[in-house]
Amino acid sequence: MGTFKSAEEFLRLHSPVRPVLGLRPHAARRAARWFQHHFPGKTLYAVKANPMPIIIDALYKEGIRDFDVTSMPEVEQMAAFPQVTLYFMNPVKSRATIAKAYYEYGVRIFALDCRAELEKISEATGAARDLTLFVRIACEGRGSRIPLARKFGADPDEVVDLLLAARSSAERLGVSFHVGSQAMEPCRYREAMHHIDALIVESGVLPDIIDVGGGFPSAYTNLSPPPLGHYVSEIKGCFDSMNVFETCELICEPGRALVAEASSVIARVELRRGGALYLNDGAFGSLFDAAHFGFVYPVVLLPQAPRSTGALKPFLFYGPTCDSFDLMPGPFYLPGCVREGDFIEIGQLGAYGHVLGTRFNGHGLYDEVILRDEPMMTMYGGLDGREDVECVAGSESC
Ligand SMILES: Cc1ncc(COP(=O)(O)O)c(C=O)c1O
Repeated sequence: MGTFKSAEEFLRLHSPVRPVLGLRPHAARRAARWFQHHFPGKTLYAVKANPMPIIIDALYKEGIRDFDVTSMPEVEQMAAFPQVTLYFMNPVKSRATIAKAYYEYGVRIFALDCRAELEKISEATGAARDLTLFVRIACEGRGSRIPLARKFGADPDEVVDLLLAARSSAERLGVSFHVGSQAMEPCRYREAMHHIDALIVESGVLPDIIDVGGGFPSAYTNLSPPPLGHYVSEIKGCFDSMNVFETCELICEPGRALVAEASSVIARVELRRGGALYLNDGAFGSLFDAAHFGFVYPVVLLPQAPRSTGALKPFLFYGPTCDSFDLMPGPFYLPGCVREGDFIEIGQLGAYGHVLGTRFNGHGLYDEVILRDEPMMTMYGGLDGREDVECVAGSESC
């Protein structure tokens, strides 16, 4: 894998046929540093967001040792690293997977959100007494670009029983929630934590760990969240007032916020038809979230000078497959002169980008390069000048 100063330098030397992942591991390291410095607890990485070895290595080098895994392949990948702790946070797992994780890989931490899964975990581990169990509580997901409420989370009427049952099976008990991915409002964490606090009081079960999940946002062209410091302040303020022991641990498990800035895609324009650009990457590749959740990624025409000085015009993108859902509405603003054969860099694709791609229609293969320049947007006080500032908990209006 070659290393280049920028996508522009790479394209001066190469004319790639496939889409190219422009990897910026330094951006993942900066995000990990930020979380470890500012989050008042332990930061896990949700491997699902981007399991590429170069990204995992970057986070590991920066000191991340705790990983949220959701499947046996993720367990196997992460167990190869020394001194890591794996949290199996998928609330639904097969018995065989639970047993293999427990007996062969030493996984002791599992999430669940219903009685049947608790029984499964207990049976598959031989009624083990050394488990940390996380009860995941349902969370509405309002204010998040990708709500996760429908599929997972114990409902209010079953939570108290489940907390009592899990407490009696677990050496350590955690309570977790997920406000939904790309949470645009810090107050959603406050709401979820107040809800959990009320359930703790009602059940009389004191957890050893509060897990505020992922959901921490990244910056996109059409999504400009408050600084991450606001989220952390909100969480800290709520945690400090919760009815838990002083020894209760606080953890978070971001995916997107740690890695979104760590990859771009360099795509080629195969055809221009008016305001539509047909690219060699799309909804079945790394642009799933642009097609299905309306994410508008930052884009730039390469090389930037001199052609790119023309007025910007709105474009929609089509991907390379024959499927008509392979459509990213955008609008993506590019110079009006863009034409077949041009390359564009599409930024902020490090989380849920390439990892969601398929081989549909024979596409889905990428070249990879390392880029040393800054990501196109940042939440970490970089190019676009966004500064993370501390704020008083509860100051966000909701
Ligand atoms: C249990 C759990 N934790 C963490 C994450 C990561 O979320 P995000 O990428 O929004 O930070 C997810 C995403 O689906 C999840 O399901």
